[in-house]
Formats: sequence, C-alpha cells, structure tokens
Amino acid sequence: MTHDAIIARSFGRFKQKKLVHGAFVACSFLVLSFCAVFSFRPYLGPSSIFVENTMAKQKQQRNSTIFQGASSSKSDQLMAQNVTKQREPPCHVMDLRSDFYNITGEVRIHAKSSTVFIPFPEKRNLFRGYKSWKIRPYARNKDSRAMNHVREWSVIPAFSDAKVPQCTQNHTIASILFSTGGYAGNHFHDFSDIIIPLYLTSRPFNGKVQFLISDYRSWWATKFRAILQNLSHYPIIKIDQEDVHCFPSIIMGLQRHGELTIDPSKSPYTMRDFREFLRSTYSLKRRNAVRLRHGDTRKLRLLVISRKRTRSFINSTNIAETAESMGFEVIVAEADIHVARFAEIVNSCDVVMGIHGAGLTNVLFLPEGAVMIQVVPLGGVELVAKTYFGLPSKEMSIRYLEYKIGTKESTLTEQFPLDHMALKNPYSFHRCNLEAFKSVYLDKQNVTINVRRFKTTLLKALELLHE
Ligand SMILES: *[C@@H]1O[C@H](CO)[C@@H](O)[C@H](O)[C@H]1NC(C)=O
Ligand SMILES: *[C@@H]1O[C@H](CO)[C@@H](O)[C@H](O)[C@H]1NC(C)=O
Ligand SMILES: *[C@@H]1O[C@H](CO)[C@@H](O)[C@H](O)[C@H]1NC(C)=O
Ligand SMILES: *[C@@H]1O[C@H](CO)[C@@H](O)[C@H](O)[C@H]1NC(C)=O
Ligand SMILES: *[C@@H]1O[C@H](CO)[C@@H](O)[C@H](O)[C@H]1NC(C)=O
Ligand SMILES: *[C@@H]1O[C@H](CO)[C@@H](O)[C@H](O)[C@H]1NC(C)=O
Ligand SMILES: *[C@@H]1O[C@H](CO)[C@@H](O)[C@H](O)[C@H]1NC(C)=O
Repeated sequence: MTHDAIIARSFGRFKQKKLVHGAFVACSFLVLSFCAVFSFRPYLGPSSIFVENTMAKQKQQRNSTIFQGASSSKSDQLMAQNVTKQREPPCHVMDLRSDFYNITGEVRIHAKSSTVFIPFPEKRNLFRGYKSWKIRPYARNKDSRAMNHVREWSVIPAFSDAKVPQCTQNHTIASILFSTGGYAGNHFHDFSDIIIPLYLTSRPFNGKVQFLISDYRSWWATKFRAILQNLSHYPIIKIDQEDVHCFPSIIMGLQRHGELTIDPSKSPYTMRDFREFLRSTYSLKRRNAVRLRHGDTRKLRLLVISRKRTRSFINSTNIAETAESMGFEVIVAEADIHVARFAEIVNSCDVVMGIHGAGLTNVLFLPEGAVMIQVVPLGGVELVAKTYFGLPSKEMSIRYLEYKIGTKESTLTEQFPLDHMALKNPYSFHRCNLEAFKSVYLDKQNVTINVRRFKTTLLKALELLHE
C-alpha cells in the first residue's frame, strides 16, 4: 500500500461522495478546494491546512536522509508508525499539497514513453531495490480533478545499460520538470499551483536552470513570459514532444507550501521576496502604499476589480461615486490575460476591492501596507474566502478587510423568495454538491452593494492608511 492510500483510507470516509463526481471545467477556481475545505473541517479543525501540517510532521518522522526532522503530536506519531513501514522511493519529497523528486546525478528523459531514466543506478546506493515510480508534476497532488489533466511521468532506475535510451541532446545545467496542465489558466491557480511553487523551486539556481514544461500551452507561457525568463536564462523546452534529453540533475514537480503563500520556515524565501521579484519583473514603481499624515492632501487610489459575466457589481458607478465623495480617486478595471498591464494598475493603488474570485489574486502586485477588501457573496464561502485570500494577505503585508454582503445585496433574491433555503442557509442548500453550489452561487449571482452599509468598510480602509 502506498503512502497515498493510507491518507485516502484515513480521511476517505469523511469525504462527501459528491466531491469526486462529474467532470469539472478547470476555470471555476473557487469550487476546487471548496469541498475539500468543508469536508475536512468537521474533524480536522480550522481548515485543510491542518492536514498538511500533519503530513509534514509525518514526513519528518521518517528519518531517511531525504526528509528533514522535527517534533510531532501523539496522533501524528500513530499515523507515522504506519507510514514508516512504507518504502518511499528515494529522492521523494512529499506532503499533501506537493510531491516532487529531487534527483541529483545523470538522468535521461525519454519523452515518448514519459519516462525519466536513471542510468547506472548501481553506482548510487540510494536506488538499490527500486523498480520504478510515478509522478504527475503539478503541485496539487490530492486533487484528482486537477491531476486528471496532468501527464504522468515514470522514473526508472535502469540497471542494465541496454535499457537506457541514447541521448540526442546533452545538457550541462540542472533541469526542472513541471506541468502547465491541471488548473492552469485560472489566475489564482496559475500563481498558487505553478508560479509561486516554481519560484520556490527554481530561485536557488539563479537562472542557471532549464525548464521542461509538460502539458505545454503556448498561451500560458506567453502570459507568464516575463516571470519565466527571469527565473530561467534558457528557452523553455516543451518536453512532451522531444527526443532524449540528458541532464546532470532534475527536479520533477514543484514545491507548494499552501494557498498563495510561502512558509518562511520551509524556505530561504518569503512572500516579501516573491513580491519584490514580481515588482522587479514587471518594473513596478511602488514598494509602499501611501501613509497619510494629518493634513496630508494626497488622494488614496481605490481600484474596483470588476467582472463582466458572473459575480459582477451591478452598479460600480454607485460604488465609485460614494468612494469619491470620501476622498478616494477611483479606478474600475477588469483583469485579463495581460498580466503586466493589470499589475501596473494594481500597483498604482492603495486599496483594492473585488468580489471573491480569481481576479483578487492580483493583490500580489499591491504595494506593502495597502488594503484589500474582499466582498464575500452568498453561498457559505466565508471559510474559502479566508483560506484563499484572508490568510495569505498577512504574509504579503497587505491589510485585509472583508465585506460580507447582506441577503438583499445579492441578485439571487430575484430568483428565490426571501425565505428560501438558498438564501437563508446556503450550506444546507448546496450540501457541498459542487454542481449545485457552482450553478447558483458562482454563476448566477451578481451583487448590488448597499453603499450606505459599505461606507463603514471604506472608512476602515481610510483609517488603516493613516499614520
Ligand atoms: C533515526 O534518527 C534517530 C535520531 O535522529 C537515530 O538515533 C536513529 O538511529 C535513526 N534511525 C535510523 C534507522 O536511521
Ligand atoms: C495502522 O495500520 C493498521 C493495519 O494496517 C490499522 O489497523 C491501524 O488503524 C493503522 N493506524 C493508524 C493510526 O492509521
Ligand atoms: C536537491 O538535492 C540537492 C543535493 O542533495 C540539494 O542540495 C538540494 O537542496 C535539493 N533541492 C531540493 C529542492 O530539495
Ligand atoms: C552525450 O554525451 C554522451 C556521453 O558523454 C556521448 O556518448 C553522446 O554521444 C553525447 N550525445 C550527443 C548527442 O552529443
Ligand atoms: C527581472 O527582470 C527585470 C527586467 O528585465 C530585471 O530588471 C530584474 O533584475 C530581473 N530580476 C531578477 C530577479 O532576475
Ligand atoms: C447607479 O448608481 C448611480 C449613482 O448612484 C445612479 O445614478 C444610477 O441610477 C444607478 N444605476 C442603476 C442602474 O441603478
Ligand atoms: C450578472 O451580471 C452580468 C453583467 O452585467 C450579466 O451579464 C449576467 O446576466 C448577470 N447574471 C444574472 C444571473 O443576472
């Protein structure tokens, strides 16, 4: 039995069956971890983050040289006893969120069979007794919906030279293999699952590293060209279509510490470093948000992130006029595929507000000390809203405010009578059924902000930006 199987068995029965149901289009960001968060919650405490910590500790329990050590609680030790019996493949570093192999020494990548061969493994004691193992190089390894869209790679220590394919290209630099399948294309997941993990994994190489992209999508590489070029000095290899490339080492898969975050205890880097990296990559001017002193007449800039199709503000003019009357300079803009353009807009602002959704990921470009206001729609999404944006904002030195809309501010009141369960108790209405949840709360809900009520939140933002 594998490590994964133990986790699945221990937690599986708590999971809602519906969680596994149905093909799910990759772009509906919020839903993805929605039920994971909910279904773990009743017995695991604050959120799925706990699961990860537990896993990290278990990992630390096994004192193989590839894992790092630390303390653990009683229940972790119980779990760990079972885990210790398993034989992990060498070079394997795993926790619930990401799963990667760090193989130092020659590797030969045979793309046609999606295999990474380790030639002459007999010279490396580590591999004795291992036949092969598999990995999907995308940093969300417990999420089968994402992983179904990620090519699977095998690693084979090849004891007989005859089995190893001949190199058609020799390289002298290290390589990192990762996938742009999964949920790529959703702005939140682009950063949470790929860009931040890629930064963590590749930054130590100082540009001297070859990126090998599996499930390559040209629009994705175009969207993030500036970042990719700043992390690697070499043109990307679309590895799936290639012949046999040989490298002196490879990291397969990326490290991920959590949602939109870097855990400074696990890395020499911090979110501050990452945001500094973004600022230099996109030549963003502002490091710090405005701090108003008494009598200061500078205007604070407020960005209202609009969405055109779903979860739209019905009347952003109304919001803008109210904010302007309070002394803000207001910009209303929608994010698109042009990251640099939007990064510049966001960086020029001191306050960003938007309805819960992937567009809020752009707060990454805010200057330090700026304020984000997350407007939380109906649907029982408070926990997800906190997990995805509330908690990560702390590491980013962004002040976080939440505006939970009242029932009457939701356009769902046009579709359901006021005493309907969908409005009164969203959680009992969707019961964690993704389809039910998505089709009502994500796709059919717009928001008419009650500006008189919202003013209080804007006042708080103003206060936070005064010295
Ligand atoms: C595991 O680590 C402990 C303390 O770090 C050490 O005493 C023990 O010998 C190690 N066990 C194995 C099997 O390496
Ligand atoms: C460990 O494994 C045994 C049998 O495989 C099982 O009965 C026991 O519940 C497991 N313990 C934990 C803590 O998972
Ligand atoms: C990979 O292994 C090398 C050599 O053991 C080590 O120096 C490096 O820190 C490891 N990288 C990661 C990301 O674990
Ligand atoms: C790659 O290197 C190996 C060993 O150094 C050599 O035998 C082989 O001919 C080289 N292949 C290419 C395409 O340069
Ligand atoms: C990223 O690119 C910009 C512009 O090309 C450059 O000024 C900056 O130094 C680069 N940063 C890193 C970390 O490579
Ligand atoms: C939107 O708000 C503005 C300013 O308050 C108001 O003049 C306008 O009538 C509103 N439009 C709608 C469609 O409610
Ligand atoms: C929400 O607003 C958008 C943009 O105004 C509109 O296209 C969409 O039909 C609205 N959705 C509902 C369910 O009213």
